[in-house]
Amino acid sequence: MIVKTPRETREGNRIFWDLRNAVFSLEFSTFAECAAFFVFRSKSMKILSSDIRSKYLEFFKTKNHAIIPSAPVIPENDPSVLFNTAGMQPLVPYLLGEPHPMGKRIADVQKCVRTNDIEEVGDDTHLTFFEMLWNWSLGDYFKEESIAWSWEFLTDKKWLGLDPKMISVTVFEGDENAPRDEESADIWKSLGMPAERIAYLPAEDNWWAAGPTGPCGPDTEIFYWVGEGEPKGNKGTHSKEWMEIWNNVFMQYNRIDANTLEKLPAPCVDTGMGLERCVTVLNGEKSVYHTDIFSDVIERIHEIFGTDSKENVDWNSVRTSTRIIADHLRAATHMISDGAVPKNVDQGYVLRRLIRRAIREAYKMGYEKPFVAEIARMYVAKFEDVYESVKNNAEKILAELSKEEEKFAKSIKDGMREFEKLVKGFDIAFEKTGQKITQIAGSKAFTLFDTYGFPVEMTVELAKERGLTVDTEGFNAAFAKHQELSRTAAEGKFKGGLGDQSGETVALHSACHLMLAGLRKVLGSHVAQAGSNITAERLRFDFTHGEKMTPEQIAAVEAYVNEAIDSGLEVAVSEEAKEAAKSRGVIGSFWEKYPDVVKVYKMVGKNGTVYSEELCGGPHIETSDGIGTFKIVKEEASSSGVRRIKAVLRKG
Ligand code: ALA
Repeated sequence: MIVKTPRETREGNRIFWDLRNAVFSLEFSTFAECAAFFVFRSKSMKILSSDIRSKYLEFFKTKNHAIIPSAPVIPENDPSVLFNTAGMQPLVPYLLGEPHPMGKRIADVQKCVRTNDIEEVGDDTHLTFFEMLWNWSLGDYFKEESIAWSWEFLTDKKWLGLDPKMISVTVFEGDENAPRDEESADIWKSLGMPAERIAYLPAEDNWWAAGPTGPCGPDTEIFYWVGEGEPKGNKGTHSKEWMEIWNNVFMQYNRIDANTLEKLPAPCVDTGMGLERCVTVLNGEKSVYHTDIFSDVIERIHEIFGTDSKENVDWNSVRTSTRIIADHLRAATHMISDGAVPKNVDQGYVLRRLIRRAIREAYKMGYEKPFVAEIARMYVAKFEDVYESVKNNAEKILAELSKEEEKFAKSIKDGMREFEKLVKGFDIAFEKTGQKITQIAGSKAFTLFDTYGFPVEMTVELAKERGLTVDTEGFNAAFAKHQELSRTAAEGKFKGGLGDQSGETVALHSACHLMLAGLRKVLGSHVAQAGSNITAERLRFDFTHGEKMTPEQIAAVEAYVNEAIDSGLEVAVSEEAKEAAKSRGVIGSFWEKYPDVVKVYKMVGKNGTVYSEELCGGPHIETSDGIGTFKIVKEEASSSGVRRIKAVLRKG
């Protein structure tokens, strides 16, 4: 029995009502008997996210998949995208045909960030951070096995044991790129899926790609009935009541540009199941917030804010606010664990926006004291055994969040005053001229952002509450100017896209390896990579070192890299056991993020000198011919104990 309170469906309530029902409906002779029954009921009813993670990986192990660790949410050496929005992003080279060191069948649990649905957060299913249960065939099995295994995992009593009647699917209806997917439909039918629960939908629904270019193909999606009563129709007829839980993409193409679709070297499969949604339906719930993933956090937010003791509460708005806070702080926890810090550009901008948005929701609920670290601490406890990055950065996560909370608290009062002044000015102008101003200028929105730290989305939200709009295009123009590089302009920020693997970028990536080796030679072996970002124009590299580099040290590092380039480098890649590479002294950071077998890139001059040997996923140049002269253009502090270099390769 599920009891709804005005707040949320709460775990505590559920257990209480379970117990109450048990006591009234059954005759217990002793209190111990009653307690034992209660413990059994509460355990058997609650399906935990951790159980599903391990069951999923266990299942794909039985299908001979190698399990790899999750990649960080911030992609390395991929300047075209701020976050990994899908598990396939780190695997693109392998979908394009490069052999994966772990073989052709891979599975993992991958952390992802998608901010394009941020406005939807607060409903039952949308999240900015989520975990996907993934499996891939890299040119191995195809539709038959993929669909059959999804079905087995979902419905077999040994695994999730979901009722097949509650499941429906969609397949691709066909267009000029690929035919109607009768093959998948037939496989579904052969597994017992009635024809009326199979919907044929267009590319908009059933064609999957991570960005405008890169691997893509038709997919078949799996849905669970969350509507009232018996399941009805299919996704095509009862769209809202079927919740998507799993997506099996049949990658067969590589999109080169808007007009060119090439065949992949071999057909691949890329399937992803949303962990949060899966746990939701398994518990007979409709909302991801009614699971162990969030329910205690929501509960704690209510406790901290003292919601219960308030009168005249608008429960709908409170529910949305608490969900936004719970979602955004979870995303922020993971972003910081993978290296982001709140800033006005790039990933740091998105992070700042999420933290500030969460705090603003607290203000809306009338709570203005610090709370973010306390919530983040709960997430650290939930995830430290799942992701090493969370365990290793626990202190940093709490410190960065509290620092940002303090900064925001300082600036918001002034910013709100400025905002009120602005709106008041509109009223005065109206009184004087009779003309109503309904839009906040881009330059004003930019001042609110630049001086008071108001992410533009927040200004838009505040404006909306007053029936005003914001000239976001004007804001974007001012913002783009302010950004280090125009590629990170506000508009492009939340879009997906695949790695820019142009010649320039690849050459700079190789130069990065040489530079790290040079830095270690000149400054000492304490130097380790702390982050990197490469575009076609320049490399940016953060490394651990406590002091400013002297001009001599900079010149020595440049000389090292240029000597390597001039020596006519050859770059060779080999695979070896991670432990062996580590003990041999191969340079590498984030070892824990790599599988047991790693790729090592070795750069050797014609003179026989090994200039660099480093753990990496590639790609790299084959030789150093014609890549240019290496020049460090800037050396500065990045954060405490971390320096940042910007460098270029000059041709001619
Ligand atoms: N790549 C597919 C998705 O993200 C599985 O939905």
